[in-house]
Amino acid sequence: MKKWIAVTLVILAVLVAGCAEEKVKPTPTPEEKKETPKEEKATPEKKTPTPTPEKKETPKATPTPKPTPKKVEAKSPVVECTVCHTKSVDYKPHVNGGQLCGNCHGWDPHKIHVGPGTINLDCKVCHGTPPKLVVPKPIEEGRTVCENCHAYPDAVKPSYGNLVNIHLPRGKYCTVCHGTDIAGIHKAADKFVEQ
Ligand code: HEC
Ligand code: HEC
Ligand code: HEC
Ligand code: HEC
Ligand code: HEC
Repeated sequence: MKKWIAVTLVILAVLVAGCAEEKVKPTPTPEEKKETPKEEKATPEKKTPTPTPEKKETPKATPTPKPTPKKVEAKSPVVECTVCHTKSVDYKPHVNGGQLCGNCHGWDPHKIHVGPGTINLDCKVCHGTPPKLVVPKPIEEGRTVCENCHAYPDAVKPSYGNLVNIHLPRGKYCTVCHGTDIAGIHKAADKFVEQ
């Protein structure tokens, strides 16, 4: 009789354990169900890029199309300045721009060119190599040392400080310095209103 009691207790214990497992199981199952739709969602997402031929390039290519429309949006409201300003290269403040570099970039050549967050040029680009070490000095009196360089495309050739020639070929349009408030710049064009 004691054996039967023991056996029933064992069976009960197993059943209770089974119930407990069953009770435990329900909680994981919705989680498993939650995971499965994710996988289902993930697969069509993976499928969408596939239409494009190269599978490896598509994930890299997908982020790039996004910036391109943004660039178009950013550029579209901006008027093409050079339509009217055809001689901006010859404007005095642009020609004499060498005096202004430091106002916007700072005057310390090392903070601009060397170290983290910069293009990190090798010292020898400006100072040469050991037997012929040089400290750059302005090519002409009245010029700044910045003008020794920054021609386009060869940045180590003299630019003579022309702001337009330095910035525009490098993709830095008039608006990086003058802003995009075109009406604000040209307020004088509305001078007739106040009269
Ligand atoms: C439709 C012709 C036209 C376009 C396009 C144009 N400008 Fe002008 N801009 C002028 C004229 C004309 C003047 C001189 C009269 C004036 O100030 O309105 C001028 C003057 C300026 C001035 C001098 C303002 C001052 O008060 O000293 C700046 C700076 C300038 N433009 C920048 C720009 C920039 C940057 C762009 C492009 C985003 C641009 N302009 C597009 C015609 C134009
Ligand atoms: C009125 C302000 C201003 C002046 C003056 C100025 N710059 Fe700039 N420059 C800028 C701005 C703004 C940028 C764009 C910065 C950016 O995109 O992070 C720039 C970018 C540059 C770049 C980087 C272009 C690239 O390839 O990314 C160089 C090189 C440069 N300037 C050189 C010069 C030199 C040399 C002078 C003096 C002759 C000068 N700048 C004067 C405002 C100025
Ligand atoms: C973009 C050009 C450029 C680069 C790159 C550059 N320098 Fe210079 N350096 C200059 C200029 C220009 C001067 C002259 C002082 C001035 O105009 O501020 C100078 C001055 C110096 C001086 C002082 C010399 C003196 O007699 O006053 C030292 C030292 C120096 N640089 C070391 C370095 C080292 C080390 C590196 C590389 C980690 C370096 N530079 C990278 C342009 C550069
Ligand atoms: C001996 C030549 C030399 C001199 C002097 C020099 N630069 Fe440069 N600079 C370079 C080169 C080379 C580059 C990198 C190529 C490029 O941007 O076209 C550069 C890059 C730059 C950049 C872009 C930095 C970046 O992180 O992208 C700016 C801004 C700049 N120079 C401004 C100046 C200013 C301002 C001065 C004067 C204080 C100056 N440079 C003096 C050669 C020079
Ligand atoms: C690197 C910066 C920079 C770039 C790029 C630049 N400018 Fe300027 N511009 C200046 C500075 C600095 C001045 C003188 C101070 C001022 O008027 O803000 C100036 C002055 C002017 C003036 C007034 C001229 C005068 O004699 O008073 C006009 C107009 C102008 N810029 C138009 C343009 C146009 C158009 C472009 C593009 C083709 C352009 N700028 C590109 C910095 C820049």
